[in-house]
Amino acid sequence: MPNTPSSSLLWRDVCVFDGLQVLPTPMAVQVRAGRIVALTPMAAFTDAQAIGYREVGCGGVMTPGLVDCHTHLVFAGSRAEEFEQRLEGASYADIARAGGGILSTVRATRAASEEQLLAQALPRLQALLADGVTSVEIKSGYGLNLADELKMLRVARRLGETLPVRVVTTLLGAHALPPEFTDDADGYIALVCNEMIPAAAAEGLADAVDVFCEHIAFSPAQCERVFQAAQRHGLGIKVHAEQLSNQGASALGARYGALSADHIEFLDEAGVQAMAAAGTVATLLPGAFHTLRETQLPPIALLRRHGVPMALASDANPGTSPICFPTLLLNLACTLFRLTPREALAGMTAHAAQALGLPELGRIAVGAPADLCLWAIQQPAELAYAVQPGRLRQRVFNGIISHPSGVSAHEC
Ligand code: NIG
Ligand code: FE
Repeated sequence: MPNTPSSSLLWRDVCVFDGLQVLPTPMAVQVRAGRIVALTPMAAFTDAQAIGYREVGCGGVMTPGLVDCHTHLVFAGSRAEEFEQRLEGASYADIARAGGGILSTVRATRAASEEQLLAQALPRLQALLADGVTSVEIKSGYGLNLADELKMLRVARRLGETLPVRVVTTLLGAHALPPEFTDDADGYIALVCNEMIPAAAAEGLADAVDVFCEHIAFSPAQCERVFQAAQRHGLGIKVHAEQLSNQGASALGARYGALSADHIEFLDEAGVQAMAAAGTVATLLPGAFHTLRETQLPPIALLRRHGVPMALASDANPGTSPICFPTLLLNLACTLFRLTPREALAGMTAHAAQALGLPELGRIAVGAPADLCLWAIQQPAELAYAVQPGRLRQRVFNGIISHPSGVSAHEC
């Protein structure tokens, strides 16, 4: 039977992590017309409730489809040499100041056609999907001029039309200062605010705007101008904040109602309080922490104490996190940041969805879109505990089983 969005699907006897917690008893999960329509403890599930549903799985662990809320998946070239330079002692900031780093990816990305960028990004996105991702945010930020930033955003949108995944796009024009604007950062910020943001908004190419607020990138005052332009155009706000130093960028973002402040290794308590008051999500990026061999830990205890939701993302990018393996990031969040497996899973489901301003995603709840993963494991914590590809038994996007691709769904 073909699997269509109108299919009525049933899973029996699954252990459910619902986006925030592990449900206490085995459940039956039912999906119709792309939505979750029932979630019933097995002890209360009757055969009559199964009528009209195709049973497509039983046993194992079910989680919401994973949400990767911070990626730079679209880029050309490689930064393997830079990795070696850092191993020999150069810092990320040293390499950036010498014209490498982000700017080296900018040169390769500008030179690449839309088709080439699409072809290079596809396997990265496929790797995310094969490990359970059903929604992904993709940033621009390696074009740094109007045409090339829009080119990147178009590629991101096309990725979402090519594969069964929801793509949310973010304009990161204020990622680095391009060579055309050396010594004129304010002039470049004017270009971001007066040309890039209006064009991306008018063409429906961006859902949000992001900035890199750092001593090697843009100042808080410059970032504030970008936030104001984003607000004028009705776009969400995100911020690469406190990655290498404490610039007060998270608190600034919070003042502008930012969806999330991301990285935040150098965040202080005042910033945490500002985020708590504004409902700004803290996005943790252990892949970048690991790759840069960072030692300053994000203030996890403060975030917990002030009730700031913690999201977790791959930050997949060629410089600081060349990692397209979401469940590895669950593991790194636990081992490096001491998140609990439950916190890590919530970070890549419900809290990641909140960081995208799409709170109905990342949940297994009646009425939510049927983005689901069925894993060949016994308990949810195993996803964070073991580092092992190939555990995804089924991936359901919008009520359609799209993994394993080309294979009919596992029957009980
Ligand atoms: O999230 N910090 C700035 N931006 C990216 C890295 C980009 C790059 O090095 O290419 C990040 O870490
Ligand atoms: Fe990033």
